[in-house]
Amino acid sequence: MTAVGIDLDARAYELDRAHVFHSWSAQAALNPLVLAGGRGCRVWDHAGREYLDFASQMVNVNIGHQHPVVTAAIADQAARLTTIGPAVANLQRGEAAQRITALAPEGFDKVFFTNGGADANENAIRMARLHTGRDKVLSTYRSYHGNTGAAVVATGDWRRMPNEYARGHVHFFGPYLYRSEFWSSSAEEESERALRHLERVVQCEGPDTIAAILLESVPGTAGILVPPPGYLAGVRAIADRYGIVLILDEVMCGFGRTGRWFAFDGYDVIPDLITFAKGVNSGYVPVGGVVISEPIARTFDERVFPGGLTYSGHPLAAASIVAALDVMADEGIVANAERIGRTVIGPALSRVAEDVPLIGEVRGEGVFWAIELVADRETRQPLSAAAMARIKADLVARGVLPFLADNRIHFAPPCVVTEAEVHEAAAALREVLTALPEEIR
Ligand SMILES: Cc1ncc(COP(=O)(O)O)c(C=O)c1O
Repeated sequence: MTAVGIDLDARAYELDRAHVFHSWSAQAALNPLVLAGGRGCRVWDHAGREYLDFASQMVNVNIGHQHPVVTAAIADQAARLTTIGPAVANLQRGEAAQRITALAPEGFDKVFFTNGGADANENAIRMARLHTGRDKVLSTYRSYHGNTGAAVVATGDWRRMPNEYARGHVHFFGPYLYRSEFWSSSAEEESERALRHLERVVQCEGPDTIAAILLESVPGTAGILVPPPGYLAGVRAIADRYGIVLILDEVMCGFGRTGRWFAFDGYDVIPDLITFAKGVNSGYVPVGGVVISEPIARTFDERVFPGGLTYSGHPLAAASIVAALDVMADEGIVANAERIGRTVIGPALSRVAEDVPLIGEVRGEGVFWAIELVADRETRQPLSAAAMARIKADLVARGVLPFLADNRIHFAPPCVVTEAEVHEAAAALREVLTALPEEIR
């Protein structure tokens, strides 16, 4: 560790605490980690303290930190044309839209670019409302869709309640066998009962009033809730029965996270609108968007779409999308996520769960895994907030950055993670959970 590095860490921390207002937090008690550099799955501070990034920051750095091809593409575009308005045609913007539509199902030929995931959902909702002439949007209680007007009210978790100023939002329960709302005892039962519940909600709300059903293909922050067999196809069938637009939110689960390009590719379903952000360019430049199926795109051939953004299709973001998607294809990064999830992460976490009674369930796919922590395996009582805070601090002290949500640790490393890195993180997890003092569970 260098003296200069230690000084820079101290200055970064002081400036942050003095001037930076942080998301979703009471500000007084914050104690942010200083990070200054990274490469692949590792990040470090100025003094050279290293961490394994098993959160991929906000579950977005799918190709790992500082991929040289992508940083070079951004630098190259910055040297050529740093910014340009949304109304002009720009080569990188067109190439980015082409790359994305090439990965989407047939008939998805248009992309509306936004600045991130929330405004992708915001605009998808607007498209669905204008396309159907209906108003309501149905989404699940266990969901996060972003921090803007309609997206935050479509969100199911606690972040919705202080922000409920948008209208027309109705919530329902999706499948979650470990904590079933439907008294189910099998994945098949959970799927069938959750579908029946959704159809009853549609009927009781009035099908002619419902514009869209908005779902994360695999709910992420809400618990990495891999959908049971038949669920997403069943939602598609309900949407079709009542003329409702199906929006699948792929912001967190898309672009390799599940070991597939789109998470829904594994579930026998094709939506009407796909929203994306995060993994599309691994967050190297802020960007998101909506991939639009042909019937909805046609609605706006002769009719104005009343929406837009100064930075829609920003050239730095577009160049980073092109480079990131090309790198992912050329280097087999999505295939690595699939293989390592199936053959290394799943088995490694299951072995920890066999020995550590605090783990109630391990679930996931690709590089998208939840470890559900419980005070008691029988009652499934969630582990306390104090215990979770202690676990987080202990993991960070052992050099592993986890993503924590409620009583869960989400293991979501970059898609380029290696077998050795998984074993390193799993060993730290085992140590931390085994050493957790009895009195704070
Ligand atoms: C599923 C999902 N949708 C939307 C968003 C919002 O994306 P952003 O923070 O880029 O606005 C997130 C962010 O975590 C997300 O996980």
